[in-house]
Amino acid sequence: MSVFIGSIPNTERDDLELAKRILKGQENLKGSIGNLREQLLRHLRENENLAEITEENIFLFNRGRDSIYFYLKSLELNEEDEVIVQAFTCVAVVAPILWNKLKPVFVDIDPKSFNMDISLLKGKITNKTRAIVVQHTFGNIVDMKKVRDLVDKANRERAEKEKIKIIEDSAHIFPSDFKGKYSTLGKYSDMLLFSFSQDKSISSTQGAASIILDEDALDIARENYSELRKPSKKESLYNARYIKLWSLIKKYYFTKIIPRTNITIGRVLIILFRNLGLIKKQAKADTIVFSGIEKLSQVQAVLLSNQLKKVSKINQKREKITEFYDTNLKENFVFKTEGDLLLRYPILLENRAEVKQKLLEREIIVGNWYSSPVHPLSEEELGKVDYKQGSCPIAERVGKNILNLPTNIEVTEEDAKEIVGIVNNFAKPLNI
Ligand SMILES: Cc1ncc(COP(=O)(O)O)c(C=O)c1O
Repeated sequence: MSVFIGSIPNTERDDLELAKRILKGQENLKGSIGNLREQLLRHLRENENLAEITEENIFLFNRGRDSIYFYLKSLELNEEDEVIVQAFTCVAVVAPILWNKLKPVFVDIDPKSFNMDISLLKGKITNKTRAIVVQHTFGNIVDMKKVRDLVDKANRERAEKEKIKIIEDSAHIFPSDFKGKYSTLGKYSDMLLFSFSQDKSISSTQGAASIILDEDALDIARENYSELRKPSKKESLYNARYIKLWSLIKKYYFTKIIPRTNITIGRVLIILFRNLGLIKKQAKADTIVFSGIEKLSQVQAVLLSNQLKKVSKINQKREKITEFYDTNLKENFVFKTEGDLLLRYPILLENRAEVKQKLLEREIIVGNWYSSPVHPLSEEELGKVDYKQGSCPIAERVGKNILNLPTNIEVTEEDAKEIVGIVNNFAKPLNI
């Protein structure tokens, strides 16, 4: 079986059947948003830090970027106020800062965890800093208490309107339960977000939830949310159609149209569907242009509810494959962190293109998150998001040398063995 790291890799037969029923109008969508909210609430309340939250704290969006834009908006900041964010992130995290006419300030990463280097954070805080986005890259949980302590210290001398808020970005992982290391989610932050977009931990093609814990922002947030646009029925069907089209693409991705060329049915279908606007890339350079934000639709709610029911099974698989890589990859490639539930398993190597190609020949598509300090922007495009070349050297270096191995539900133990074999035999480790 072929392996794909991106584009709804968790989708199984029941998700596909559900998408088809939605497209045929055979699925009852009524009440799906309320049901999803209740389902999410049950999960989140398992976390003793979130035990007190109500449905009123949960805000559902079309995309994770919408949720960041929305929360920043509800803080009613001034133009050019600063939001700190790690380099080695997605343009979908930086764009909502720009949409609010705020200024992103980049912090370099720790080369072992790929998360923000907390020791550099203090030096980036100025009297214009109003928020910090802290990202659990690949699902590797940041020590949020350290961040909270630092922010509390800075906030002590600030007026109420100038206090720094913490946005906790858990776009990469939705844990099965909120125990152990996941019990800190939401404990030290003002807003916690999850993304359910096409290549995330669980997915409704597009989708996001944010839990606003910041009492100061809640009233404005609720008022603003009530005025937000809902996608039309036609627009929301995009999410179900995407699942149907990608299952077709995957089926024929490696079926050659012309022998001894790279022209395959699947690749032609991608070009065709993209040109028709039926499938879209998750993030592109033009993400920085604001095109409005939306609530999550009923279609997305139905799709996500189904994935949420299976989140333990999906996560158990991730843990199993992560453990397999941990025990079987050569020592130099092992991701030495606490993380055992990873959206993608990162390795650093000198010959990325060669290894990617070797894996592709075995019908295994791996990833390159993040290929730049603000993925997928090229060096020439980084200026558009206020990133100065050379300012975060580790993020830049890692971006050129990282490869992500898949951990999703479609990866069998046989696949994992094959991946490990190719990496161990051909990859040249890079030590930073
Ligand atoms: C860390 C992180 N946060 C947020 C997002 C935004 O997700 P969405 O595609 O739902 O807007 C992404 C997208 O890849 C991401 O990598």
